[in-house]
Amino acid sequence: MTAGAAPDVVIAGGGLIGLSVAWRSAQRGLSVAVVDDAPGDGASRAAAGMLAPVTEAGYREEALLRLGLASVQRWPAFAEEVERAGGLPVGLRTAGTLVVGFDDDDMRELDALHAFQQELGLDAERLTPRATRRREPSLTPRVRGGLLVTGDHSVDGRALHAALLAAARDAGVRLVRDRVAAVRVDGGRAAGLELAGGRALEAGAVVLALGAHSAGLPGVPPLPVRPVKGQILRLAGAGGLLEGTVRALVRGRHVYLVPYAGDRLVVGATVEDRGFDPTVTAGGVHDLLHDAIDVVPGVSELELAETLARWRPGTPDNAPLLGASSLPGLVLATGHHRNGVLLTPVTAEVVADLLATGTLPELAAPFTADRFAPAPPRR
Ligand code: GLY
Repeated sequence: MTAGAAPDVVIAGGGLIGLSVAWRSAQRGLSVAVVDDAPGDGASRAAAGMLAPVTEAGYREEALLRLGLASVQRWPAFAEEVERAGGLPVGLRTAGTLVVGFDDDDMRELDALHAFQQELGLDAERLTPRATRRREPSLTPRVRGGLLVTGDHSVDGRALHAALLAAARDAGVRLVRDRVAAVRVDGGRAAGLELAGGRALEAGAVVLALGAHSAGLPGVPPLPVRPVKGQILRLAGAGGLLEGTVRALVRGRHVYLVPYAGDRLVVGATVEDRGFDPTVTAGGVHDLLHDAIDVVPGVSELELAETLARWRPGTPDNAPLLGASSLPGLVLATGHHRNGVLLTPVTAEVVADLLATGTLPELAAPFTADRFAPAPPRR
Protein backbone atom coordinates (compact mmCIF):
# COMPACT_ATOMS: atom_id res chain seq x y z
CA MET A 1 0.00 0.00 0.00
CA THR A 2 1.47 3.40 -0.91
CA ALA A 3 1.35 6.02 1.87
CA GLY A 4 -1.90 7.96 1.71
CA ALA A 5 -3.67 5.53 -0.68
CA ALA A 6 -7.02 4.19 0.58
CA PRO A 7 -6.55 0.57 1.65
CA ASP A 8 -8.91 -2.23 0.62
CA VAL A 9 -9.70 -2.82 4.29
CA VAL A 10 -9.42 -0.75 7.46
CA ILE A 11 -9.70 -2.57 10.77
CA ALA A 12 -10.91 -0.81 13.90
CA GLY A 13 -8.98 -2.48 16.73
CA GLY A 14 -5.47 -3.90 16.98
CA GLY A 15 -6.07 -6.63 19.57
CA LEU A 16 -5.60 -10.31 18.79
CA ILE A 17 -8.73 -10.45 16.64
CA GLY A 18 -8.05 -7.27 14.65
CA LEU A 19 -4.38 -8.11 14.05
CA SER A 20 -5.00 -11.71 13.04
CA VAL A 21 -7.74 -10.64 10.58
CA ALA A 22 -5.32 -8.01 9.23
CA TRP A 23 -2.52 -10.53 8.80
CA ARG A 24 -4.68 -13.16 7.10
CA SER A 25 -6.28 -10.51 4.84
CA ALA A 26 -2.86 -9.20 3.79
CA GLN A 27 -1.86 -12.79 2.99
CA ARG A 28 -4.88 -12.91 0.67
CA GLY A 29 -3.48 -9.94 -1.28
CA LEU A 30 -5.57 -7.16 0.28
CA SER A 31 -4.07 -3.85 1.38
CA VAL A 32 -4.88 -3.39 5.06
CA ALA A 33 -4.64 -0.69 7.74
CA VAL A 34 -5.31 -1.23 11.45
CA VAL A 35 -6.30 1.66 13.71
CA ASP A 36 -5.68 1.49 17.45
CA ASP A 37 -4.22 4.01 19.90
CA ALA A 38 -2.98 1.25 22.24
CA PRO A 39 -2.83 -2.05 20.34
CA GLY A 40 -3.13 -5.09 22.61
CA ASP A 41 -4.06 -3.11 25.71
CA GLY A 42 -7.70 -4.26 25.83
CA ALA A 43 -8.97 -7.76 26.60
CA SER A 44 -5.92 -9.21 24.80
CA ARG A 45 -3.72 -7.90 27.62
CA ALA A 46 -5.74 -9.52 30.37
CA ALA A 47 -6.56 -12.83 28.67
CA ALA A 48 -5.23 -15.93 30.41
CA GLY A 49 -4.87 -17.52 26.97
CA MET A 50 -6.89 -20.68 27.56
CA LEU A 51 -7.68 -22.59 24.37
CA ALA A 52 -10.46 -24.47 26.04
CA PRO A 53 -13.53 -25.30 23.97
CA VAL A 54 -14.41 -28.31 26.13
CA THR A 55 -13.94 -26.87 29.63
CA GLU A 56 -15.58 -23.56 28.60
CA ALA A 57 -18.55 -25.31 26.93
CA GLY A 58 -21.86 -24.23 28.42
CA TYR A 59 -25.21 -26.00 28.22
CA ARG A 60 -27.15 -25.08 25.06
CA GLU A 61 -23.97 -23.64 23.47
CA GLU A 62 -23.31 -26.47 21.01
CA ALA A 63 -22.80 -24.18 17.98
CA LEU A 64 -20.15 -22.21 19.89
CA LEU A 65 -18.54 -25.48 21.00
CA ARG A 66 -18.28 -26.63 17.36
CA LEU A 67 -16.63 -23.34 16.37
CA GLY A 68 -14.25 -23.64 19.36
CA LEU A 69 -13.31 -27.20 18.41
CA ALA A 70 -12.68 -26.09 14.82
CA SER A 71 -10.43 -23.34 16.13
CA VAL A 72 -8.50 -25.45 18.66
CA GLN A 73 -7.68 -27.88 15.82
CA ARG A 74 -6.18 -24.99 13.90
CA TRP A 75 -4.06 -23.81 16.83
CA PRO A 76 -0.86 -25.85 16.46
CA ALA A 77 -0.40 -24.90 12.79
CA PHE A 78 -1.50 -21.32 13.46
CA ALA A 79 0.99 -20.94 16.33
CA GLU A 80 3.80 -22.31 14.19
CA GLU A 81 2.95 -20.02 11.30
CA VAL A 82 2.70 -16.89 13.49
CA GLU A 83 6.01 -17.75 15.17
CA ARG A 84 7.71 -18.22 11.81
CA ALA A 85 6.22 -15.06 10.29
CA GLY A 86 6.68 -12.87 13.38
CA GLY A 87 10.02 -14.35 14.48
CA LEU A 88 8.79 -14.54 18.10
CA PRO A 89 7.55 -17.41 20.31
CA VAL A 90 3.84 -17.52 21.26
CA GLY A 91 4.12 -19.95 24.17
CA LEU A 92 1.66 -22.64 23.05
CA ARG A 93 1.29 -25.17 25.87
CA THR A 94 -0.33 -28.53 25.17
CA ALA A 95 -0.32 -30.13 28.62
CA GLY A 96 -4.13 -30.25 28.81
CA THR A 97 -6.56 -29.00 31.45
CA LEU A 98 -7.61 -30.54 34.74
CA VAL A 99 -10.92 -29.55 36.36
CA VAL A 100 -11.13 -30.30 40.09
CA GLY A 101 -13.77 -30.03 42.82
CA PHE A 102 -13.91 -29.94 46.64
CA ASP A 103 -17.31 -30.49 48.19
CA ASP A 104 -20.41 -32.57 47.37
CA ASP A 105 -21.98 -29.80 45.28
CA ASP A 106 -18.73 -29.28 43.31
CA MET A 107 -18.52 -33.01 42.61
CA ARG A 108 -22.16 -33.14 41.49
CA GLU A 109 -21.43 -30.25 39.09
CA LEU A 110 -18.28 -32.00 37.86
CA ASP A 111 -20.26 -35.20 37.19
CA ALA A 112 -22.99 -33.26 35.38
CA LEU A 113 -20.30 -31.56 33.27
CA HIS A 114 -18.74 -34.93 32.47
CA ALA A 115 -22.14 -36.42 31.48
CA PHE A 116 -22.76 -33.41 29.20
CA GLN A 117 -19.32 -33.79 27.62
CA GLN A 118 -19.88 -37.52 27.03
CA GLU A 119 -23.28 -36.83 25.47
CA LEU A 120 -21.50 -34.57 22.98
CA GLY A 121 -18.77 -37.15 22.34
CA LEU A 122 -16.05 -34.93 23.81
CA ASP A 123 -12.77 -36.25 25.09
CA ALA A 124 -12.82 -35.94 28.91
CA GLU A 125 -11.71 -38.48 31.52
CA ARG A 126 -13.00 -38.64 35.11
CA LEU A 127 -10.13 -39.12 37.60
CA THR A 128 -10.03 -40.38 41.19
CA PRO A 129 -8.59 -38.04 43.85
CA ARG A 130 -5.32 -40.02 43.77
CA ALA A 131 -5.03 -39.89 39.96
CA THR A 132 -5.90 -36.19 40.03
CA ARG A 133 -3.01 -35.46 42.39
CA ARG A 134 -0.65 -37.72 40.49
CA ARG A 135 -1.29 -35.52 37.50
CA GLU A 136 -0.70 -32.26 39.42
CA PRO A 137 1.15 -33.04 42.69
CA SER A 138 0.92 -29.45 43.97
CA LEU A 139 -2.89 -29.72 44.32
CA THR A 140 -4.23 -29.79 47.86
CA PRO A 141 -4.94 -33.29 49.26
CA ARG A 142 -8.51 -32.04 49.89
CA VAL A 143 -9.31 -32.31 46.17
CA ARG A 144 -12.19 -34.81 45.77
CA GLY A 145 -11.63 -35.72 42.12
CA GLY A 146 -10.97 -34.37 38.67
CA LEU A 147 -11.85 -34.28 35.02
CA LEU A 148 -8.95 -34.41 32.58
CA VAL A 149 -9.38 -32.76 29.18
CA THR A 150 -6.19 -33.38 27.24
CA GLY A 151 -7.31 -31.30 24.22
CA ASP A 152 -7.77 -27.97 26.08
CA HIS A 153 -4.52 -26.02 25.81
CA SER A 154 -3.18 -22.50 26.45
CA VAL A 155 -1.06 -19.86 24.80
CA ASP A 156 0.66 -16.73 26.08
CA GLY A 157 -1.72 -14.02 24.84
CA ARG A 158 0.79 -11.18 25.21
CA ALA A 159 3.52 -13.08 23.38
CA LEU A 160 0.99 -13.95 20.68
CA HIS A 161 0.06 -10.29 20.29
CA ALA A 162 3.70 -9.27 19.85
CA ALA A 163 4.28 -12.02 17.27
CA LEU A 164 1.09 -11.16 15.35
CA LEU A 165 2.07 -7.49 15.28
CA ALA A 166 5.44 -8.38 13.76
CA ALA A 167 3.85 -10.84 11.31
CA ALA A 168 1.22 -8.32 10.21
CA ARG A 169 3.80 -5.57 9.70
CA ASP A 170 5.98 -7.94 7.71
CA ALA A 171 2.97 -8.78 5.51
CA GLY A 172 2.53 -5.05 4.73
CA VAL A 173 -0.22 -4.13 7.21
CA ARG A 174 -0.10 -0.44 8.15
CA LEU A 175 -0.66 0.37 11.83
CA VAL A 176 -2.23 3.77 12.54
CA ARG A 177 -1.87 4.79 16.18
CA ASP A 178 -5.00 6.80 16.83
CA ARG A 179 -8.33 6.26 18.56
CA VAL A 180 -11.26 5.24 16.38
CA ALA A 181 -13.91 7.97 16.78
CA ALA A 182 -16.55 6.77 14.30
CA VAL A 183 -17.29 4.61 11.30
CA ARG A 184 -17.62 6.88 8.31
CA VAL A 185 -20.85 6.25 6.40
CA ASP A 186 -21.21 7.45 2.82
CA GLY A 187 -24.21 6.73 0.57
CA GLY A 188 -25.53 4.12 3.05
CA ARG A 189 -22.19 2.21 3.16
CA ALA A 190 -19.29 2.04 5.58
CA ALA A 191 -16.58 3.97 3.77
CA GLY A 192 -13.79 4.19 6.34
CA LEU A 193 -13.01 5.41 9.86
CA GLU A 194 -12.92 8.82 11.49
CA LEU A 195 -10.05 9.16 13.93
CA ALA A 196 -9.93 11.06 17.21
CA GLY A 197 -6.96 13.06 15.90
CA GLY A 198 -9.31 14.61 13.31
CA ARG A 199 -8.20 12.58 10.29
CA ALA A 200 -10.38 10.24 8.27
CA LEU A 201 -9.22 7.00 6.69
CA GLU A 202 -11.16 5.90 3.60
CA ALA A 203 -11.30 2.18 2.75
CA GLY A 204 -13.20 -0.29 0.60
CA ALA A 205 -14.41 -2.21 3.67
CA VAL A 206 -14.36 -1.68 7.43
CA VAL A 207 -13.86 -4.44 10.01
CA LEU A 208 -15.11 -3.80 13.53
CA ALA A 209 -12.80 -5.56 16.01
CA LEU A 210 -13.07 -3.27 19.02
CA GLY A 211 -14.08 -5.97 21.51
CA ALA A 212 -16.26 -4.62 24.31
CA HIS A 213 -16.05 -1.14 22.75
CA SER A 214 -17.68 -2.28 19.50
CA ALA A 215 -21.22 -1.20 20.38
CA GLY A 216 -22.15 2.45 20.58
CA LEU A 217 -19.48 3.71 18.19
CA PRO A 218 -20.98 6.48 16.01
CA GLY A 219 -21.88 5.11 12.58
CA VAL A 220 -22.19 1.51 13.82
CA PRO A 221 -25.72 0.04 13.81
CA PRO A 222 -26.98 -1.18 17.21
CA LEU A 223 -25.10 -4.33 18.30
CA PRO A 224 -25.83 -6.61 21.27
CA VAL A 225 -22.30 -6.36 22.71
CA ARG A 226 -21.76 -5.42 26.36
CA PRO A 227 -18.67 -5.23 28.61
CA VAL A 228 -18.29 -8.16 31.02
CA LYS A 229 -15.59 -7.22 33.51
CA GLY A 230 -12.89 -9.69 34.47
CA GLN A 231 -10.27 -9.11 37.16
CA ILE A 232 -7.17 -11.26 36.76
CA LEU A 233 -3.86 -11.76 38.59
CA ARG A 234 -0.33 -12.56 37.46
CA LEU A 235 2.00 -14.28 39.89
CA ALA A 236 5.73 -14.84 39.58
CA GLY A 237 7.98 -17.58 40.95
CA ALA A 238 5.69 -20.42 39.83
CA GLY A 239 8.24 -22.38 37.75
CA GLY A 240 7.36 -26.10 37.94
CA LEU A 241 4.32 -25.59 40.17
CA LEU A 242 1.78 -26.79 37.57
CA GLU A 243 2.10 -28.87 34.42
CA GLY A 244 -1.05 -27.64 32.67
CA THR A 245 -4.10 -25.48 33.31
CA VAL A 246 -6.07 -26.23 36.47
CA ARG A 247 -9.68 -25.13 36.74
CA ALA A 248 -11.51 -25.56 40.00
CA LEU A 249 -14.90 -25.33 41.55
CA VAL A 250 -14.26 -24.09 45.06
CA ARG A 251 -17.51 -24.41 46.93
CA GLY A 252 -19.44 -23.21 43.90
CA ARG A 253 -16.97 -20.50 42.77
CA HIS A 254 -14.91 -20.95 39.61
CA VAL A 255 -11.19 -20.21 39.45
CA TYR A 256 -8.50 -21.09 36.91
CA LEU A 257 -4.71 -21.25 37.16
CA VAL A 258 -2.76 -21.11 33.91
CA PRO A 259 1.04 -21.67 33.98
CA TYR A 260 3.35 -20.01 31.47
CA ALA A 261 6.84 -20.70 30.28
CA GLY A 262 9.32 -19.20 32.72
CA ASP A 263 7.82 -18.80 36.15
CA ARG A 264 4.50 -17.04 35.56
CA LEU A 265 1.06 -18.15 36.67
CA VAL A 266 -2.18 -16.42 35.72
CA VAL A 267 -5.12 -16.69 38.12
CA GLY A 268 -8.56 -15.67 36.92
CA ALA A 269 -11.10 -14.40 36.66
CA THR A 270 -14.07 -12.53 38.04
CA VAL A 271 -17.17 -12.22 35.85
CA GLU A 272 -18.98 -8.93 36.54
CA ASP A 273 -21.72 -7.04 34.71
CA ARG A 274 -20.68 -3.54 35.79
CA GLY A 275 -20.21 -1.64 32.54
CA PHE A 276 -16.75 -0.20 31.89
CA ASP A 277 -15.66 -0.20 35.53
CA PRO A 278 -11.83 -0.43 35.50
CA THR A 279 -11.38 -0.96 39.26
CA VAL A 280 -9.34 -3.80 40.66
CA THR A 281 -11.14 -4.42 43.93
CA ALA A 282 -9.88 -5.80 47.24
CA GLY A 283 -12.75 -8.32 47.15
CA GLY A 284 -11.94 -9.47 43.63
CA VAL A 285 -8.25 -10.02 44.41
CA HIS A 286 -9.14 -11.65 47.75
CA ASP A 287 -11.56 -14.15 46.20
CA LEU A 288 -9.17 -15.12 43.40
CA LEU A 289 -6.21 -15.56 45.74
CA HIS A 290 -8.27 -17.33 48.40
CA ASP A 291 -9.62 -19.86 45.90
CA ALA A 292 -6.27 -20.32 44.11
CA ILE A 293 -4.49 -21.00 47.44
CA ASP A 294 -7.25 -23.41 48.44
CA VAL A 295 -6.60 -25.38 45.23
CA VAL A 296 -2.79 -25.10 45.14
CA PRO A 297 -1.45 -24.11 48.59
CA GLY A 298 1.98 -23.28 47.11
CA VAL A 299 0.42 -20.22 45.45
CA SER A 300 0.68 -18.42 48.81
CA GLU A 301 4.50 -18.33 48.39
CA LEU A 302 4.42 -16.62 44.98
CA GLU A 303 4.97 -12.96 44.22
CA LEU A 304 1.80 -11.06 43.28
CA ALA A 305 3.28 -9.42 40.20
CA GLU A 306 0.28 -7.77 38.54
CA THR A 307 -3.45 -7.21 38.94
CA LEU A 308 -5.67 -5.87 36.20
CA ALA A 309 -9.24 -5.57 35.01
CA ARG A 310 -10.52 -5.53 31.44
CA TRP A 311 -13.81 -6.23 29.66
CA ARG A 312 -14.86 -9.26 27.68
CA PRO A 313 -17.16 -8.42 24.76
CA GLY A 314 -20.29 -10.28 25.90
CA THR A 315 -23.26 -11.15 23.67
CA PRO A 316 -26.70 -12.55 24.60
CA ASP A 317 -25.71 -16.12 23.57
CA ASN A 318 -21.99 -15.84 24.53
CA ALA A 319 -20.98 -16.43 20.89
CA PRO A 320 -19.19 -14.00 18.57
CA LEU A 321 -20.58 -11.77 15.85
CA LEU A 322 -18.88 -12.68 12.56
CA GLY A 323 -19.48 -11.45 9.03
CA ALA A 324 -21.77 -8.86 7.50
CA SER A 325 -23.63 -6.30 9.58
CA SER A 326 -26.81 -4.43 8.66
CA LEU A 327 -24.56 -1.63 7.32
CA PRO A 328 -23.16 -2.59 3.91
CA GLY A 329 -19.37 -2.55 3.91
CA LEU A 330 -19.11 -3.03 7.70
CA VAL A 331 -17.85 -6.50 8.67
CA LEU A 332 -18.04 -7.75 12.27
CA ALA A 333 -15.28 -9.60 14.12
CA THR A 334 -16.34 -9.02 17.70
CA GLY A 335 -18.36 -10.35 20.65
CA HIS A 336 -15.93 -13.18 21.46
CA HIS A 337 -16.76 -12.98 25.16
CA ARG A 338 -14.71 -15.68 27.04
CA ASN A 339 -13.20 -17.20 23.89
CA GLY A 340 -11.27 -14.49 22.06
CA VAL A 341 -7.88 -16.18 22.15
CA LEU A 342 -9.29 -19.61 21.31
CA LEU A 343 -11.30 -18.23 18.38
CA THR A 344 -8.49 -16.09 16.94
CA PRO A 345 -7.39 -18.51 14.16
CA VAL A 346 -10.88 -19.37 12.95
CA THR A 347 -12.07 -15.74 13.11
CA ALA A 348 -9.07 -14.55 11.10
CA GLU A 349 -9.68 -17.25 8.50
CA VAL A 350 -13.42 -16.74 7.96
CA VAL A 351 -13.31 -12.93 8.02
CA ALA A 352 -10.34 -12.79 5.62
CA ASP A 353 -12.22 -15.22 3.39
CA LEU A 354 -15.28 -12.97 3.39
CA LEU A 355 -13.15 -9.91 2.62
CA ALA A 356 -11.25 -11.64 -0.18
CA THR A 357 -14.14 -13.52 -1.84
CA GLY A 358 -17.37 -11.86 -0.69
CA THR A 359 -18.58 -15.15 0.84
CA LEU A 360 -18.59 -16.08 4.51
CA PRO A 361 -17.53 -19.73 5.02
CA GLU A 362 -20.32 -22.10 6.17
CA LEU A 363 -18.53 -22.66 9.49
CA ALA A 364 -19.28 -19.07 10.50
CA ALA A 365 -22.89 -18.96 9.24
CA PRO A 366 -24.46 -19.50 12.73
CA PHE A 367 -22.61 -16.44 14.05
CA THR A 368 -23.85 -13.62 11.84
CA ALA A 369 -25.46 -10.65 13.62
CA ASP A 370 -28.87 -11.23 12.00
CA ARG A 371 -29.49 -14.08 14.47
CA PHE A 372 -30.47 -11.33 16.90
CA ALA A 373 -32.75 -9.50 14.45
CA PRO A 374 -36.35 -9.27 15.70
CA ALA A 375 -38.62 -11.91 14.15
CA PRO A 376 -41.00 -10.52 11.49
CA PRO A 377 -44.51 -9.87 12.84
CA ARG A 378 -46.88 -12.90 12.56
CA ARG A 379 -49.84 -12.49 10.24
N1 GLY B 1 -11.72 -17.35 29.07
C1 GLY B 1 -11.64 -17.10 30.45
C2 GLY B 1 -12.28 -15.87 30.88
O1 GLY B 1 -12.91 -15.17 30.11
O2 GLY B 1 -12.15 -15.56 32.05
